Amino acid sequence: MMHAAGSLAIVGLGPGAAEWITPEATQALAKATDIVGYGGYLDRVPCRDGQRRHASDNRQELDRARQALRLACNGRDVAVVSGGDPGVFAMAAAVFEAVESGEQPWRDLDIRVVPGISAMQAAAARLGAPLGHDFCAISLSDNLKPWEAIARRLVAAIEGDFVIAIYNPASKARPRQIHDAFALLRKRKSVTTPVAFARAVGRPDERLVVTTLGEADPDLADMSTLIVIGSSTTRLVVHGSASPWMVTPRGYGDGR
Ligand SMILES: C[S@@+](CC[C@H](N)C(=O)[O-])C[C@H]1O[C@@H](n2cnc3c(N)ncnc32)[C@H](O)[C@@H]1O
Repeated sequence: MMHAAGSLAIVGLGPGAAEWITPEATQALAKATDIVGYGGYLDRVPCRDGQRRHASDNRQELDRARQALRLACNGRDVAVVSGGDPGVFAMAAAVFEAVESGEQPWRDLDIRVVPGISAMQAAAARLGAPLGHDFCAISLSDNLKPWEAIARRLVAAIEGDFVIAIYNPASKARPRQIHDAFALLRKRKSVTTPVAFARAVGRPDERLVVTTLGEADPDLADMSTLIVIGSSTTRLVVHGSASPWMVTPRGYGDGR
């Protein structure tokens, strides 16, 4: 296939800690002539001489994707950055959506996705092994989908007895949904279900709270928090003086 001169790497920066950025991501960032992304993520990328930076608002994903594609089409080597993994509630989907609905030459560009550690993996590593059996991830943000769809998926996840990783649980503009989500969970799951609030994992202000569904305070969640809700087999393993480990066993204990 013919490629235009430029290229576009969609790069995951991981959840925050420098040591969680992969070598492939570091190489892609060093090679880029232009870096496009939300300002908060650009601050995490080391500067190099001659490299241009294009900061934008966090909510303008499609505009940012189109800007990156235009630059690549003009022969630039562009890196568009996302926190965590770029394929999880992030820029990779926005770029491919923009390609699908955009100009024909964008389809001939050299586009690749550079994976990163997602928040749920980083949180799970800190907590023990909460994702050891079947799990799902649900974003609570209703910027891109209606609340009815979110509520329907939460109920389906509860009925399927999945461990649930909740992304985007709350923000200043959306303080109520996490309360509605907990009300829905409390109606359908045991109050003893383990629950964890993993905030700013891998950053200096990291905070972990491990509790139960009955005791959990939804106000602990903000836009830097990932919440893990256990399944019926998830348990808390007490050790030392630290928070208990949150563990979802590999099987159901009956040999299957
Ligand atoms: C727009 S989503 C992006 C997810 C990202 N692409 C990923 O793979 O982690 C933003 C949400 O990810 C979660 N998140 C991102 N970084 C986090 C961190 N360091 N600690 C806890 N949660 C984080 C929060 O739920 C936040 O509201």
